[in-house]
Amino acid sequence: MTEQPQDHAAINRAYGDGRAGGVAGTGQRNWAATEPIWGIWDIPQSRLPVLPDDVAGADVVELGCGTAYVSAWLARRGARPVGLDSSRRHLAAARALQERHALRFPLHLGDAEATPFADASFDLAISEFGASVWHDPGRWIPEAARILRPAGQLIFMRNSTLLTESSPPRGELIGLLRASGFVLEDLLEARAPAGVASVPGPVTPAWAAHWPAEEVWLARRIGTAGLGAVA
Ligand SMILES: C[S@@+](CC[C@H](N)C(=O)[O-])C[C@H]1O[C@@H](n2cnc3c(N)ncnc32)[C@H](O)[C@@H]1O
Repeated sequence: MTEQPQDHAAINRAYGDGRAGGVAGTGQRNWAATEPIWGIWDIPQSRLPVLPDDVAGADVVELGCGTAYVSAWLARRGARPVGLDSSRRHLAAARALQERHALRFPLHLGDAEATPFADASFDLAISEFGASVWHDPGRWIPEAARILRPAGQLIFMRNSTLLTESSPPRGELIGLLRASGFVLEDLLEARAPAGVASVPGPVTPAWAAHWPAEEVWLARRIGTAGLGAVA
């Protein structure tokens, strides 16, 4: 698996705390969004179906939740989300947004590579540029498998393998998912909508319209669905 610095969790924590201001701005906007919007292009859920159609009653954990707007979207769709993040500042922003929107769910301070949750606690584990980007896949993916129920789903969004050389290559990630007890169900690729004038990062609008800069992985834990599993 991609080599990680020994103290990558501490480095990420400090970096995450430093970015709390910028993340809070996105959090405010996304908490207020009526339809989920995904990635740097703000692609609506109707065009990039990241969330399952029916999450009502599902126990969900968001790994590296930041301001926890993904959990807020899930709660509004009837799920029971729990957010986990290693940054006190991001969790404080998440709590403030919970108050503002009168929508509360548990938020835990912790590390997605070693969560405080019991085995088989959740029907869905999701990460939108959280664990999926900042954690060692060799640790957080097996941990996600541990806390998911049989047939539970793992969904994560990250920068595409094409864009980010430091992302584990697809073959390696598919092998890791399989070794952790998952079956890959789908891989969604996000391209820039036609006509965008500028794009963040090192690519041009023409490149981003043609090639995916972001991708969403949808995997399912092997096993028979139990009560409350996401359909
Ligand atoms: C770019 S944010 C994405 C989260 C969310 N979608 C948002 O935009 O608010 C990445 C999050 O991962 C968290 N994070 C980084 N390392 C972590 C770790 N080891 N355990 C848990 N969370 C971590 C950071 O604190 C940050 O809140």
